[in-house]
Amino acid sequence: MTPSVEEAGLALADPTAYADDDRLHAALTVLRRHAPVHWVEAPGYDPFWAVTRHADIMAIERDHTLFLNEPRPLLATSEQDEINRRRREQGIALRTLVHIDDPDHRVLRAIGADWFRPRAMRALEPRVRELARRYVDRMVELGGECDFVQQVAVHYPLYVILSLLGLPESDYGRMLKLTRELFGSSDTDLRRGATPEETIEVLLDFFAYFKEITEARRAHPTDDLASAIANARVDGEPLNDFDTASYYVIIATAGHDTTSSTIAGGLRALIEHPDQLDRLRADPGLMPTAVEEMIRWVTPVKEFMRTAAADCEVGGVRIREGEALLLSYPSANRDEAVFDDPFRFDVGRDPNKHLAFGFGVHYCLGAALARMEVRAFFEELIPRLKAVELAGEPENVATTFVGGPKRLPIRYEVT
Ligand code: HEM
Repeated sequence: MTPSVEEAGLALADPTAYADDDRLHAALTVLRRHAPVHWVEAPGYDPFWAVTRHADIMAIERDHTLFLNEPRPLLATSEQDEINRRRREQGIALRTLVHIDDPDHRVLRAIGADWFRPRAMRALEPRVRELARRYVDRMVELGGECDFVQQVAVHYPLYVILSLLGLPESDYGRMLKLTRELFGSSDTDLRRGATPEETIEVLLDFFAYFKEITEARRAHPTDDLASAIANARVDGEPLNDFDTASYYVIIATAGHDTTSSTIAGGLRALIEHPDQLDRLRADPGLMPTAVEEMIRWVTPVKEFMRTAAADCEVGGVRIREGEALLLSYPSANRDEAVFDDPFRFDVGRDPNKHLAFGFGVHYCLGAALARMEVRAFFEELIPRLKAVELAGEPENVATTFVGGPKRLPIRYEVT
């Protein structure tokens, strides 16, 4: 059933709406068509403008001095927004790249940027391919049936992150806890019900762990991203403990669920569109466009927000200083004005100007790495995948932030 504009707006603040692709996209389609810049007053949330058209989202992201990431970079409940505000006042809030604006943002982003450039990507690629192979081998060991999300997709990107940071594989368990339990989705199945107080305790525990890494890298610098963070200088001074820990946190969290959701959601799309799987098998040269299409199709990051620094207009709607705008990436990526037949999964789609990595100065720092990871995995899997089908009902994560499949039971033949 087609929702009203009001109902559609409320869906954007409802984690369960994101677990149901049809419901979500019915709502987003209504908003794009009838109210592309729409004021949402959802119970439990401070109000915000929902921005659903590709062109309006790009215009906002392009103007990063008018539309700021601070103080409300992503959708949280009013209670959580208030806790974050208090933590900022006490100086114990995370300050990652997505929480800050220029001029600090430019300086902090430059610290990690070299580690995502083509030269660094080429150096990391053999390791990424080795890990991709390890996880396709794992599928063989699992004997032809598995939950692809929990047994494969969740693990591979986190090992890539450990390699990028230069941390040992033995730190895997701790990193998994960090990314899944602390910063993972709002899905109650995955969060294990941490209260704000418990969260701060876990956070402090991680800060202690990151402090150890920082001290070790300062004493003995190595050739990895952790060392670049630990030994960075801003105006001649090292980063303080909070900024250092925040940097590790953004790399670990931004690079985990995003990529694992894309791989799992990409495989699901191939299973549900067997003609596209056959096409990719027959023509492996389609892999780059196929990867791009999987990223558009899944759009694992559901939103970021901006706050207007002055009165302005977006898509002809008047926005007042201090009001927040939610950028709906899944909506931008099904915008009929930009994509031919946007609800068709097409491994050869070209052009494919999706906004899954955002746009402008905050454009995903790890985009090249994410593309390489997804590509390495499917280049390893597809030639060895003789058959694949669903072995049960897939389920998506209920979250307003980062998500994709939560369970993907499959039956397969991999050689
Ligand atoms: C920022 C998406 C993988 C690191 C972002 C943003 C999006 C995004 C939408 C915000 C952009 C904006 O505000 O305009 C994705 C998707 C991924 C992915 C869809 C996988 C398919 C990764 C990986 C890493 C990473 C693998 C690193 C290991 C970052 C960082 C930022 C960021 C550090 C903050 C950039 C800034 O604020 O300057 N990502 N990401 N991401 N991403 Fe990714």
